[in-house]
Amino acid sequence: MEANLSCPNEGVNKLLCFDFDKVERIAKEIRNAVPDKPLFLKLAYFANDDVIFPLLSRLDGIVDGYSTINTLSARPVTANGEPALGQDRPTGGVCGEAIRWAGLEMVERLARLRTRLNNHFAIIGVGGVSSAAHYQAYRTAGADAVMSATGAMWNPQLAWEIKSSLNG
Ligand SMILES: Cc1cc2nc3c(=O)[nH]c(=O)nc-3n(C[C@H](O)[C@H](O)[C@H](O)COP(=O)(O)O)c2cc1C
Repeated sequence: MEANLSCPNEGVNKLLCFDFDKVERIAKEIRNAVPDKPLFLKLAYFANDDVIFPLLSRLDGIVDGYSTINTLSARPVTANGEPALGQDRPTGGVCGEAIRWAGLEMVERLARLRTRLNNHFAIIGVGGVSSAAHYQAYRTAGADAVMSATGAMWNPQLAWEIKSSLNG
């Protein structure tokens, strides 16, 4: 069971996962309401270890893991510099190839902090996965499982291709 606390459509400064009091309260409520299902929180990109460490400490023993990342809020423009999503929508959530670096960085960060906390939470990596090599990069970074949205949308065979690559 995954709770998405990283919806970019709320605006980058208002992402729920950046409000630690609310995250803790919500996580505890879900935990109490559904005690028998593994609980994952979906997190946005945090730029450094020190910013996210207090959140992970507070959620220690409450959640079973994290999935990360959601889309990154940006101002996509055309080659002419015009808003790519239309004049009335200057910003939008960017996904796919352009954000893989951020997903990998967050997975590395969580894996590092998991060790520092001596914790066993699971990590689901997501962001820009469209090949078996990308899947492997996430696993190497510390992900226990890997998800894809954009890559799987463009290539419905993606999961099968990755599984085949693992079977040699
Ligand atoms: C069409 C589309 C719809 C999405 N809807 C949701 C959503 O409802 N909830 C959510 O947590 N993430 C949603 N996402 C974000 C993806 O789950 C994922 O975190 C993000 O796109 C990065 O992965 P990707 O690079 O493989 O697309 C959506 C992404 C796309 C492309």
